[in-house]
Amino acid sequence: MSDTSSGARRGDWPDHPLIYQIYPRSFQDTTGSGEGDLAGITRRLDHIARLGADAIWLSPFYTSPMDDGGYDVADHCAVDPRFGTLADFDELVARAHDLGLKVMIDQVFNHTSDQHPWFQRSLAGDPDYADFYVWADPCDDGRPPSNWIGYFGLPSWRWHPQRRQYCLHQFLPSQPGLNHYNPAVNAALGEISRFWRDRGVDGFRYDAVTSIFFDKEYRDNPPAGDDQGSQPGSAANPFTMQRHDYDMLPKECASYAEKLREWAGPDAYLMGEINDGPTSVETLEKFTAPSRLDAGYVVDLAERGLTGGVLADVIERMEGPGRLIWWLSCHDQPRQVSRAGDGSARDARMLAALLLALPGPVLIYQGEELGMPQPDLPKSALRDPFDLAFWPEPPGRDGARTPIPWQAGEGYGFTTGVPWLPMELPPGGPALQQWEEPGSVLSFYHGAIAERRALGLAGAAIECVVAEEDFFAARLSGDDSAFLLVTNLGQSPRDVPEGAAHAEVALSSDGTPPPGRIAPRSTLWLRL
Ligand code: BGC
Repeated sequence: MSDTSSGARRGDWPDHPLIYQIYPRSFQDTTGSGEGDLAGITRRLDHIARLGADAIWLSPFYTSPMDDGGYDVADHCAVDPRFGTLADFDELVARAHDLGLKVMIDQVFNHTSDQHPWFQRSLAGDPDYADFYVWADPCDDGRPPSNWIGYFGLPSWRWHPQRRQYCLHQFLPSQPGLNHYNPAVNAALGEISRFWRDRGVDGFRYDAVTSIFFDKEYRDNPPAGDDQGSQPGSAANPFTMQRHDYDMLPKECASYAEKLREWAGPDAYLMGEINDGPTSVETLEKFTAPSRLDAGYVVDLAERGLTGGVLADVIERMEGPGRLIWWLSCHDQPRQVSRAGDGSARDARMLAALLLALPGPVLIYQGEELGMPQPDLPKSALRDPFDLAFWPEPPGRDGARTPIPWQAGEGYGFTTGVPWLPMELPPGGPALQQWEEPGSVLSFYHGAIAERRALGLAGAAIECVVAEEDFFAARLSGDDSAFLLVTNLGQSPRDVPEGAAHAEVALSSDGTPPPGRIAPRSTLWLRL
């Protein structure tokens, strides 16, 4: 099939890459510390290359107090000693390139850790850094300048007695927000992009890139009222009780993506985390206009529920495939096989076949390919402040961050020490065992990725045919071939849509169904 998307080829990247996300703390430990490290990633890269990915995306490995799992960066250009050294990073990049994998890393530019030297100087009033962050005087009665509540459910202003001022943060109080209205901040961030490009990095993922601008008058957000359900997050989080009209201006942030492109260079593949509640898809289109990012991902499928209706809604709102990255799991959401399924291998295969048929770039999150379900972690095991604040309500981020079981036995081949989060085996066993078994979830992912490539599905055009709560069908068309993707999310067998009753099955997630039928909780790719 030809490339029917609007995106142009980026450097020597494939048009619609399949990107494998690695959460370094949980991938492979080589020191016995119980936490993964860069050398461990290098050791396991062949797993990812063999799976058929085009690229890896590394979540942060930078110097950090780890208040927010590494998304609280204290030095953007240094490796945290728990993860190794810059030399380890260079080896990782070299090995990835030898295996034909591109390397993307996270760029956390919205905020830093309060341990970052920039913040320490800003706090101390150093004139070169005084305006690096968003400082505001209190109201006459001492209240903060606005009613804003951040993603983690806390008031967005932290009082700093040293400056007798409030400082803005949209996540944890220890993650002060950078002042992107200050050109010196942008100059410093541009240097960081160049530093990593010079080390061989091929692309970047921009964290929280829709949150960087805010109303300079600090006007109060209005109550969400009846709109609460359309705000990202759980109803237990007061963040959802406001309409975020003033604390983040996602549409205004889109032009900032031109700066990111300029710093990264024309051949880097750039993707953004796009969070604009109910209008995220439209905001994504603005972020990925020419000279901006290549692609972005939204949280709709994860947060609104995986139904035919939500899938069709996203597909119909995007301006053609290619710029929206499809994903079902990441380090911020409970694992998809438990959230949108019952944790079984059957549901893992159904979801994999759905994901891998969708045209455009795709993200796979480590462990998803093993069918790892969301574990039921006791509160005493949790490390994530976001999980702890709302336990036992969602988000459930630590459950998605438990280490990868590579083989049977103590430490599961992940560590010789005590893993930093509890580990358990997925129903299909550890990774090395799954590679040996043709019927495993891992073998299914491997085969489906190869088939996606062989059929050219990544570059297809897509048109929804049926979009019910628990049944979804879409036509995928290229220049000289067409397929019907059918997913039965329900509990009973169904007929496939009219006209496809005699179509050849190109891929089935659950055995060979009788002609014209689809098994419950399964996905078919039919050749039209
Ligand atoms: C990251 C989260 C993090 C937040 C604040 C996000 O979008 O993916 O893991 O907690 O940014 O940095």
